[in-house]
Amino acid sequence: MKSSLFAAAISALAISASPIHKRQVGGVLICTGANATGECTHNVYELKTCHDLPAPFFQNASTFAPDGEAFDCFPRVGTCDQICTSPTGCTFGAVDFNYEHKYNLSAIGWGNLMGHFDCSLKR
Ligand SMILES: *[C@@H]1O[C@H](CO)[C@@H](O)[C@H](O)[C@H]1NC(C)=O
Ligand SMILES: *[C@@H]1O[C@H](CO)[C@@H](O)[C@H](O)[C@H]1NC(C)=O
Ligand SMILES: *[C@@H]1O[C@H](CO)[C@@H](O)[C@H](O)[C@H]1NC(C)=O
Repeated sequence: MKSSLFAAAISALAISASPIHKRQVGGVLICTGANATGECTHNVYELKTCHDLPAPFFQNASTFAPDGEAFDCFPRVGTCDQICTSPTGCTFGAVDFNYEHKYNLSAIGWGNLMGHFDCSLKR
């Protein structure tokens, strides 16, 4: 009796102290300035969902850096409820962990353009 309680306590400890803690997919660092300067926010964003950038990041984000898991994101102009009529989808393309300008979207002229974005697992 006593030893089984002890064993239960040990295994509960082992679970909570497990080093294999998988991060949630969908984390993105967003900052107003390039190189993660200015105001920053890091959140895990639900995949396949449109996310409007809140102030002060709306049309004011030069850093957009997804975490290292196998997903990518599409920064887009405007807000989620605006209908994009551009054949390019109002985006410059996918951004993932390895995207070269993720710390300076100004380098491609997008420092004041992104209004919303959506992310999904890589296919
Ligand atoms: C931004 O980061 C790049 C790459 O690390 C570096 O070369 C550059 O000097 C940085 N610029 C500023 C203003 O911090
Ligand atoms: C852009 O970000 C800067 C730095 O946080 C802030 O001072 C400024 O008010 C923001 N501009 C807009 C239009 O949100
Ligand atoms: C970001 O890119 C813009 C435009 O090319 C450049 O003027 C600026 O110095 C860059 N900022 C950083 C921090 O590298």
